[in-house]
Amino acid sequence: MSHKLTLWPEGEVLDMNGEESLLVQLTKAGKFIKSNCGGHASCSDCIIKVKGGESSLTPPTFEEMRLLGNIFHITKERLSCQTKLTGDASIDITEHAKKPVAKSKPVPKSSTVIVRKRETLQETAVRSQEKDEVKKPDDWYRHWDKPETKDASKFKHVGGNKRPKPFTDAENNDPDDGDKK
Ligand code: FES
Repeated sequence: MSHKLTLWPEGEVLDMNGEESLLVQLTKAGKFIKSNCGGHASCSDCIIKVKGGESSLTPPTFEEMRLLGNIFHITKERLSCQTKLTGDASIDITEHAKKPVAKSKPVPKSSTVIVRKRETLQETAVRSQEKDEVKKPDDWYRHWDKPETKDASKFKHVGGNKRPKPFTDAENNDPDDGDKK
């Protein structure tokens, strides 16, 4: 069955059915209605203001009540994705007429983009390579590639150079021991 829906502020009258939601039908008719959740009653972007014929709309669903609460008598707002027509009504879609303008983020001063030419990049690479070659040879630089040093004079004692002394014959022949025997 067909119903009349008057759109504010233009006063345009559209023929609507009672099977599909207002969001679907208005979108089909070429009217822009904001929607982020695709009609799943989770974004509350598709709110419309009811101007007349409140009783010609289906009662709010549980999902709609969850989002908007039970204050329709004050706000006169409904979710167009959850509302269907049962008779003639008029709604205000002024808020949806303002299409969102893509906002470009201001670029912070600190993050200025520097565009370098290929030649400049190559020059920089060559310069850094030269710098690496000039670098003083460091003992630890790629030490795993260097051959191990076997020179005994360079051997460094670790642990404070306090190693146990080997026993000698003189120490073994203790004179006291001989007296006891
Ligand atoms: S489209 Fe998101 S709540 Fe209606």
